[in-house]
Amino acid sequence: MEGAAILLFCLLFVHKSYAAELKTISESNFLTDGDTLVSAAGIFELGFFTPGSSKNRYLGIWYKKISDKTVVWVANRDHPLPCGSPLVLKIADQGILRIFSNATMIWSYNITTSGKAAAILLRDDGNLVLTDQQERVLWQSFDYPTDTLLPGMKIGRDYVRRKEWYLSSWKSSEDPATGELTFGAETRGYPETKLRQGALVIFRGEPLRNSTFFAGSVLDKSLTVRYDVIISESEVSFAYNLEDNSILSRATLNSSVHLELWAWVDNARGWRLVYSVPSDLRVTYNMCGAYGTRSMDAFQQSCNCLDEKKFVPKNQKAWERGDWSGGCIRRTPLECENGLEGFIKYSNVKLPDTENTLFNMSMTLEECHTKCLQNCTCMAYANPDDSQSICLLWFNNLLDLQAQNGGSTIFVRMASSELDSQSTSKNIKIILLVIIPGVVLIGLMIATWLCCARRKWNHAKPAGEGEILIASKRLEEDMEQPLFSFSTIADATANFSPENKLGEGGFGPVYKGMLEEGKEIAVKRLSKNSSQGHDEFKNEVICISKLQHRNLVKILGCCIEGDEKLLIYEYMPNKSLDSLIFDKTQSMTLDWTKRFNIIKGIARGLVYLHQDSRLRIIHRDLKASNILLDQDMNPKISDFGLARIFGGNETQASTERVVGT
Ligand SMILES: *[C@@H]1O[C@H](CO)[C@@H](O)[C@H](O)[C@H]1NC(C)=O
Ligand SMILES: *[C@@H]1O[C@H](CO)[C@@H](O)[C@H](O)[C@H]1NC(C)=O
Ligand SMILES: *[C@@H]1O[C@H](CO)[C@@H](O)[C@H](O)[C@H]1NC(C)=O
Ligand SMILES: *[C@@H]1O[C@H](CO)[C@@H](O)[C@H](O)[C@H]1NC(C)=O
Ligand SMILES: *[C@@H]1O[C@H](CO)[C@@H](O)[C@H](O)[C@H]1NC(C)=O
Ligand SMILES: *[C@@H]1O[C@H](CO)[C@@H](O)[C@H](O)[C@H]1NC(C)=O
Repeated sequence: MEGAAILLFCLLFVHKSYAAELKTISESNFLTDGDTLVSAAGIFELGFFTPGSSKNRYLGIWYKKISDKTVVWVANRDHPLPCGSPLVLKIADQGILRIFSNATMIWSYNITTSGKAAAILLRDDGNLVLTDQQERVLWQSFDYPTDTLLPGMKIGRDYVRRKEWYLSSWKSSEDPATGELTFGAETRGYPETKLRQGALVIFRGEPLRNSTFFAGSVLDKSLTVRYDVIISESEVSFAYNLEDNSILSRATLNSSVHLELWAWVDNARGWRLVYSVPSDLRVTYNMCGAYGTRSMDAFQQSCNCLDEKKFVPKNQKAWERGDWSGGCIRRTPLECENGLEGFIKYSNVKLPDTENTLFNMSMTLEECHTKCLQNCTCMAYANPDDSQSICLLWFNNLLDLQAQNGGSTIFVRMASSELDSQSTSKNIKIILLVIIPGVVLIGLMIATWLCCARRKWNHAKPAGEGEILIASKRLEEDMEQPLFSFSTIADATANFSPENKLGEGGFGPVYKGMLEEGKEIAVKRLSKNSSQGHDEFKNEVICISKLQHRNLVKILGCCIEGDEKLLIYEYMPNKSLDSLIFDKTQSMTLDWTKRFNIIKGIARGLVYLHQDSRLRIIHRDLKASNILLDQDMNPKISDFGLARIFGGNETQASTERVVGT
């Protein structure tokens, strides 16, 4: 009964007949529930709405002319406002975008820039902007994407403002809250896009490059999609546009793991699906393992080794059973033969995962070859963009390869004996072994002479050194991203207020917090007697934050300031396992299926920590209170790696209870 009444109330607001259409919101001009803010050419509209039969109100942006409301942005997605309260959006005192109800502020975007906002307006590209008196942009909705990418909107990272732009799905079609699917740019190594469900990669795009392609046509108009990519010291970003920008389009992350590109067809009054990724959900990320390639057969999924003559399945029996995840290994292992190794060219492939790569945006293919050859750990090189000279170097096994018509070319490192046919290669090897050292020796003598002589004349720097160093510095900077300032965390946890305290763990109290952008976090304030220095601590955190598994609590970053050492984790709404199983009433809610799932999840997390991860961590304090549960009751192990952080000396942990394990 009550629900129905509230619903009716919600609908009444939507159909308010005297709705005003504003062009701007200023200090004297408010937006009340029912009114809308309209872009100059009347393409987009901002206002309060209720999705489906939800009981909540949200502030959002949708297309004005499309009657079937298509919401492209939601302001308060994780802070629903109850239906029926009189809502007002205005610029309040310090120039901040805020929603009020009965003169009480109930939601706001806190803007950290010092400028004073003068106006809010909606642009025709769907960007809601807050400007100051000089019309400079103080804040824009394009910096806070939800589930929809509009033409010109960016995905990626802004290194200057330390911002990451990525899409995240709605929880359901009636709940715009942040869902578990994300689509963003991976910027460790050469940038590429990934679609993830939690930590699990569902789909990997190709290494980013400027490109244009024809994606079909609607009526008489052709849909040509253009990707605009920026890769620089200050920003890595990806945006799309249609060449014919009179066609409305949007790319939306839907709740069943697809990123869909839609175009609006005027005559048919409907959205038309242009394309969607992944094209086949049976194709999982890296299903063929290292050096395995996925075949292109649309009906039958199968894997081959990159080159049947040079590689063999790592586990032949499993491979024959159709379990390809072990991948392939070289028939002749690499042994670092001092420049005698070489590269074999493979064409028409989708380039492998670029996470462990270094790159230089201005280096020819020959220079790239030389660079890779010089370093025994360099496994392959390629130029991802034919229109430019980019050198991309891989330093680990090649993952997630795929055969692809019209794909790229990659040069893969091979032992010298694999380079030519058996008979000639031996001769060549002998020649190389005898002659090359001789030539190198003479070369070195000349070089030394030249170098020293030049040093005397002018303090010239030996050329050709620093290139890769610069790229690897970028890599390091990237990993330093998860450093939070103490003031940010103090703000987020209301100065570590007792109300925000979630509990007391072995290594210190844990607080709930909320970052400026509305993201919920858990903050562990480590007891001050950790023996580690700042750098050691930071390195350790960077190391363990790279361990990502769906049954491990994700570390978002850390904060070190003075005596304070804080660890920032993702927030788990269902608390820890001990709060459930040791509570008479709560434990009734856990049936055997749930319990079994929790047990399996913990086991998976442990297998990962003990075996599959790079660090091989022994937890040493695994107990029910260290198992946290997400909203779907999936278990996540927490506090792993803390034994390492505390220098392996358990007595330094301020735990007083006997360790249960
Ligand atoms: C807002 O004020 C109205 C009347 O002025 C009142 O009926 C309503 O309960 C108030 N709402 C809230 C959330 O305080
Ligand atoms: C893509 O094209 C733009 C404009 O021509 C250019 O500024 C940018 O550097 C290019 N990006 C890459 C990665 O080549
Ligand atoms: C998501 O997109 C895929 C591919 O376009 C489609 O098959 C599926 O029905 C969509 N799911 C929802 C919930 O819209
Ligand atoms: C080879 O490259 C790796 C990864 O960048 C680097 O750590 C190592 O120092 C390099 N080795 C040499 C000899 O340059
Ligand atoms: C890339 O390589 C070129 C040519 O070797 C070099 O001059 C340049 O400094 C390098 N740039 C970076 C960012 O490493
Ligand atoms: C913004 O700041 C106000 C007061 O400083 C605070 O009450 C509010 O919760 C903050 N909003 C967010 C989303 O952090």
